Amino acid sequence: NVEAQVPALLAKMSLEEKVGQMTQIDFSVISVLNGEVADHPVDLAKLEDAIFNRHIGSILNTPTTPNNQTQPIEKWRQITQLIRDVAAKSRLKIPVLYGIDAIHGATYTENAVLFPQAISMAATFNPDLAFKEGEITAREVKASGLDWNFMPVVDIGRQPLWPRLWETYGEDVHLAVTMGSAYIHGHHGDDFAAADKAPTCLKHYVGYSYPLNGKDRTPAWIGERALREYFLPGFEAGVKAGTPTVMVNSAEVDGIPGHVNHHYLNTILRDEMGFKGFTVSDWADISRLYTRDKLAASPREAVKMAVMAGIDMSMVPFDYSFYDLLLDLAKTGEVPMSRIDEAVSRILRVKYQSGLFDRREPALAVDGNFVTEDAVAANRQAAREAIILAKNEQHMLPLSKQASILVTGPTANLLSVMNGGWTITWQGAAEHLYPKDKPTLLQAIQQKTSAKVTYVGGKNFSDEINIEQAVTQARQHDVVILALGEKTYTETEGNIESLQLDPVQMQLARAIFEIGKPVVLVTFGGRPRIITELANKAQAVVLGFLPGMEGGAAMADILFGDTNPSGKLPISYPRDTNDIVMYDHKPIEAFESNQYRPLYPFGHGLSYTTFQTSGLSLSKDRIAMGENVDVTVKVKNTGARTGKETVLVYLHDVAASVSRPVKQLKAFKKIALKAGAEQILQFTLTPQDMSFIGVDMRRVVEPGEFEVMVGTETAGFQVVKP
Ligand code: IFM
Repeated sequence: NVEAQVPALLAKMSLEEKVGQMTQIDFSVISVLNGEVADHPVDLAKLEDAIFNRHIGSILNTPTTPNNQTQPIEKWRQITQLIRDVAAKSRLKIPVLYGIDAIHGATYTENAVLFPQAISMAATFNPDLAFKEGEITAREVKASGLDWNFMPVVDIGRQPLWPRLWETYGEDVHLAVTMGSAYIHGHHGDDFAAADKAPTCLKHYVGYSYPLNGKDRTPAWIGERALREYFLPGFEAGVKAGTPTVMVNSAEVDGIPGHVNHHYLNTILRDEMGFKGFTVSDWADISRLYTRDKLAASPREAVKMAVMAGIDMSMVPFDYSFYDLLLDLAKTGEVPMSRIDEAVSRILRVKYQSGLFDRREPALAVDGNFVTEDAVAANRQAAREAIILAKNEQHMLPLSKQASILVTGPTANLLSVMNGGWTITWQGAAEHLYPKDKPTLLQAIQQKTSAKVTYVGGKNFSDEINIEQAVTQARQHDVVILALGEKTYTETEGNIESLQLDPVQMQLARAIFEIGKPVVLVTFGGRPRIITELANKAQAVVLGFLPGMEGGAAMADILFGDTNPSGKLPISYPRDTNDIVMYDHKPIEAFESNQYRPLYPFGHGLSYTTFQTSGLSLSKDRIAMGENVDVTVKVKNTGARTGKETVLVYLHDVAASVSRPVKQLKAFKKIALKAGAEQILQFTLTPQDMSFIGVDMRRVVEPGEFEVMVGTETAGFQVVKP
């Protein structure tokens, strides 16, 4: 029983062993220099020093090899086995917790099942797929001998310039809560001791995703009401779903860096949310309190401030400075033993709960079956459901397999642009590192059709495309598939000045449109880049975002009609680079002139069939405070082929003491319907759905009128005082 095991072990530990538990080092600290000997990435002497002398609690990251190659699964099992073996020889045999960014599948190994990134998973509006992704990722993490996954990102994506927008589930709170919770349930649910389950990590607590200037790791100005209403619910839901670890916001909110925010880390996270696990810093962020934030007068003071504020584990990452400084602070009593014991107990509890003490080999056998058929099928389905058909004038799509096609544009023939950052390498791997058996969009199109397919493009993103040649070819084909977008990036490296597409892509597109051939505009990338001019001219627009390793095949399935598209936008797609208004904006933004005029609204997504929702009715038109209201609506497939539709239920509090959004998503369901078929759907709206953060910063339901909106219909109910 963990509650007895933790204090019993703690009682045997020296101060050094305790401080070591709070230290997480980067793999490079135990690696052979520069990864020159890729076959044997671990330097045994360094590993023994880390474990025997520094008693480190955790390791993160991937070995760097000369060519940035991934380690095959067998290599991962050997590396992690060596770490387990050395830990087993340490005085108290405390296992090391190995953490990894498996943010869209096992990104660190060969032939992994790389799912759509979170923004695309959100576009599926299908929590069953998020559950599956969690389940498959946990199994692959454990089969690799690894222990802990730094996912899900439950930050809310309401700042499209931010270079990590694509790591979020989009702008809506309910969607992010639903997808994030489903992922956690699949990854471990109530039990992360099981051989095929692994602990998750909620990140980045809290407000990281909303930098005012759009640049990564810059200040957010979030008032307490907005924090509670938009940014905390993902974390609350994650804690409820059982996540035992939380990674902290690298930047600051309202002038207080995440790593010293005692109020957020204790009052809100622990006292209010009931979080019992441990917090981990983000990359080197404790030292940045001194070097960058100028909050601490020395590195030593930075360690004291962060630990006293509630950071339990430091992602150091390259040295033992944290260990040395904390040891000294504990010896002088500046950091009391009670605080050290508290942090270490939390870390040990997670290690016991994960079954780490019970196993001395990778938790899961692989049996040559690392990539299962089931996993590949789930991934393909996720990619298909993630792609959004935004425009389809005069049934331009699906394309005929007999049509001759020119494929051009920088994202047409690259796997990297569909996978994004955190794929094989931090910034997303160079093209030659991708498995050869997955098609790019171009290859998938070539596989689909026997008609003439011509490609004009460069070898990698930065190669300029020969525009003249593209135009000449366009004239000789029935249709042009123009694939634009972004190359891969994450974090600060992905900062940009504007959401405009780069001039070379605009030049190519304008030259193609000039000749008047039908154009299908396809985009890949992590942010909505401005395509308004091009989308207005194109006959069809398909938004791919980051659909993962099956993205090329899935996109071709949709272009040729082998799959009926069902993705919906998890963000509002802006019309212009400064036109950033969310769907759940305030009445003041719609007063006198409607300021919500995105190119495509949140929830938009077409199909090759049509659906009609009708007959919206409510179980009651008057309820007492604390009661539920049931919502019923009929959905009919009014077109000619089977398709999937997501029904979105919005609520609006008509008049309140705090300004309320014009509407907020409170429930959704995705169903499949055959042509002509119909289904009645039921939803329940709870008092929580009707509540908001009131004048006194507490959650409240106020009596009065509410409107429920589904499709084009609206119905109302009244909440009355008892
Ligand atoms: O998990 C990541 C985080 O999202 C960004 N900084 C580094 C961490 C570990 O790689």
